[in-house]
Amino acid sequence: MGEVKLFSGEKLPLEMHKVRVVQKLNLLPVEARQKAMAEAGNNTFLLKNEDVYLDMLTDSGVNAMSDQAVAAMMVADDSYAGSATYYRLEKKVCDLFGTTYFLPAHQGRACESIIASTFVKPGDVVPMNFHFTTAKAHITRVGGRVEELVSDAGLEPESDLPFKGNIDLDKLRECITRNGKEHIAFVRLEAGTNLIGGQPFSLENMTATAKIAHDNGIMVVLDASLLQDNLHFIKVREAACKDMSIREITRAVCANADIIYFSARKLGFARGGGMAMNDNSYYQRMKDYIPLFEGFLTYGGMSVREMEAMTVGLEETMDESVISQGPQFIEFMVAELQKRGVPVVTPAGGLGCHINARKFLSHIDDHAYPAAALAAAVFIAGGVRGMERGTLSEQREPDGTEPIASMELLRLALPRRVFTMSQVLYAVDRISWLYENRHLVGGLNFVEEPATLRFFFGRLEPIGGWQEKLVAKFRKDFGDSL
Ligand code: F0G
Repeated sequence: MGEVKLFSGEKLPLEMHKVRVVQKLNLLPVEARQKAMAEAGNNTFLLKNEDVYLDMLTDSGVNAMSDQAVAAMMVADDSYAGSATYYRLEKKVCDLFGTTYFLPAHQGRACESIIASTFVKPGDVVPMNFHFTTAKAHITRVGGRVEELVSDAGLEPESDLPFKGNIDLDKLRECITRNGKEHIAFVRLEAGTNLIGGQPFSLENMTATAKIAHDNGIMVVLDASLLQDNLHFIKVREAACKDMSIREITRAVCANADIIYFSARKLGFARGGGMAMNDNSYYQRMKDYIPLFEGFLTYGGMSVREMEAMTVGLEETMDESVISQGPQFIEFMVAELQKRGVPVVTPAGGLGCHINARKFLSHIDDHAYPAAALAAAVFIAGGVRGMERGTLSEQREPDGTEPIASMELLRLALPRRVFTMSQVLYAVDRISWLYENRHLVGGLNFVEEPATLRFFFGRLEPIGGWQEKLVAKFRKDFGDSL
């Protein structure tokens, strides 16, 4: 879509939709926000939604749906087996991805579990651009190991590289030689690389990665959960693709992969997931897991209403004026924060705006979880709920040591079409106030630390009484403002 130029010369992300259904929000006073954060164990996952003003935790399952998607839910064909809804979804996925087979699953991590159980043996290695929490957890669950091969430049928080999610091809060749191709279960490529700031890979890099893998007889698995943003970035940042349609780019990306899986809580603006492939033997090997863990083959644990919405949402993903909305709003928020000196991941990626907590709170030791502390502080400052994406989201090594995350980020997701410009500017305002007062923010300590995926349910406490001091400063600066 061509950009709209303003007379003032400013750049604005212009909504290509109008809002017709709304949900009422609450904004609690700062003292109540501090209390809610304490009750939630300083973990934003444990907050109650009714206490949250702007829910920027994730874009998973919370994107605004179109009128067409909601309408489609009304014509869903509810049946345990052979639902017409399923066949519509299967056809849409296979048409868009250029595949023959589809397996439904209730969400992205169910696909990860099935793929890991089918293809990863104890001692195997899965090279990838970067891990995602649940993908890694399932690979390690079955005795495998992850190697991250994103180029070093991809891990620089501030950069002007357009494709920070690219695999370093030399590292990939070295990884195959060192481990031996027989010990490599598959190469996993994640579109819109989540944990490094929603950064895309280029079509060129993906094609070269797949060639190296295939020359060695290694399968390529594409995690297409964040494909939507990645497609947009290929279109606008990769010169060789600028005249291709989103549909053509989707086909070209998917042609490199042997298995494509996705969370439809992200791709397709619905809730669900699935896997697509051309190879009948892969299909057969994974098929039995569906009725065992998910549901019959024609629903895979999803509601038929969601499947109808997804079918529409996947088609809408082929429309550049739809998928450009997320990245354009994110770019706007990143630019506004940058203007106020707040350290953010650049270039702006997909999914959300990512604040570099290691730099924002440079006085906090990595073991006191700067990104988690910042998440708690941003909630207290503005009722804005973000997600820690750093050391707290890592798993401890078997010997109990705590790996330090290569990036220590606070993610503020922008679910598509949900927030308005003034809400984004409000969040920017409160974060820039916090930045001016960052010396008041301290670290966090675990009081309850679960062994698996500890970031979901872990409870923490502030080190020292920093939250009271922050609330007092808020009152001093903002008077009786909410
Ligand atoms: N892969 C990627 C890249 C993801 O971002 C997610 C989920 C999954 C797989 C798992 O999919 O949630 O449907 O089981 N990401 C969410 C997030 C949870 O907030 O970023 P799921």
